[in-house]
Amino acid sequence: MGEINKQRLVRAAAGARKQAVAPYSKFRVGAALLTSSGEIIGGANVESASYGLTCCAERVALFKALTGGRKKFVAVAVVARCDGGPMPCGACRQLLAEYAPDATVLVVDSRAPAKAREFSVRELLPLAFVIP
Ligand code: THU
Repeated sequence: MGEINKQRLVRAAAGARKQAVAPYSKFRVGAALLTSSGEIIGGANVESASYGLTCCAERVALFKALTGGRKKFVAVAVVARCDGGPMPCGACRQLLAEYAPDATVLVVDSRAPAKAREFSVRELLPLAFVIP
């Protein structure tokens, strides 16, 4: 994955973050997926007064992409205002392992967009659950 595409993806995730709906935690997260054809699909976290119903930015982006017919993902960027960037939660790791197993995960602090930390989905969730 080239540096240009990384920058594009991080910028898209930062843009998506502006649409976060986080009235409870005030922790706004943006995510963007890069498909194998070069398309970018963004999403942001959406919170509920029934806190457990909250959906993370990564899953919103993934559900948008999947229901838009996209199937092959090369990378996902996740951006929030926190040191080192936001590490995806366990639920998001499971969904990424299922639908974007070969993706690179870029984790980014919104205050330092040029300093993405890079992980593979496999290292974030080794031995993921699969239906036997
Ligand atoms: N959140 C995400 O959207 N992605 C992450 O990787 C971590 C957590 C959201 C969920 C909730 O709206 C807020 O951050 C605080 O947990």
